[in-house]
Amino acid sequence: MFRPGHFARVGLVSGLVLMYSAQAGAVGPVSQQSMVESLRASTAAYKDYMLNCGGCHRFNGEGVSQNAIPNFVNSIGTFTHLPEGREYMIRVPGAAQSLLGNAELAEVLNWIVATYSPHQLPPDFKPFTAAEVGAVRPYRFDDVMQARRKITAKLENLGLNPAPYLYGAPANVYEAAHAAADAQAAQ
Ligand code: HEC
Repeated sequence: MFRPGHFARVGLVSGLVLMYSAQAGAVGPVSQQSMVESLRASTAAYKDYMLNCGGCHRFNGEGVSQNAIPNFVNSIGTFTHLPEGREYMIRVPGAAQSLLGNAELAEVLNWIVATYSPHQLPPDFKPFTAAEVGAVRPYRFDDVMQARRKITAKLENLGLNPAPYLYGAPANVYEAAHAAADAQAAQ
């Protein structure tokens, strides 16, 4: 069946891709910095984060405690070094199962890395897109903890330091992390 709307949309998308690749040609420290600044400046993403994610991840991105909800600060950008890390960020239940559309979720993920962890992004960082989100979002993890553990082991091998995620860890490890967090907060 002929659907004019469909072709119009395809035309629009390829136009955007062309614009983006023209920009991507000039990647360097300065252009990366301005890209990160513009991702962070999205007020729509800021509002979506505060309404849909901030209740758990907190307004400062530090999570509820250092154990149950991982800290985004100086950490979440490391995940974008690996394709499976980007995929994990989309498929994690709080993101995938949110009420946000694919384009909005892509914008929020960009806002999160640009706001809380810009210095951990790879030099060739490419923003999340609606298409990237839509492609993997429907696939739920059987075991999120296991998926995260595999990715963080790989990141650590690359010399990167993602935040700990101790949910389900033995009680002594959990309590030690709490005590360390309390001591840090008291400083
Ligand atoms: C009900 C609480 C809750 C809400 C709401 C929530 N999350 Fe999460 N988020 C978590 C938990 C818990 C984890 C740790 C992985 C897991 O157990 O699901 C997590 C992990 C993540 C991670 C990976 C962080 C890491 O270091 O592993 C990302 C990215 C993320 N969430 C994005 C979002 C986004 C985007 C939203 C809003 C659209 C959101 N989350 C809403 C609880 C939440």
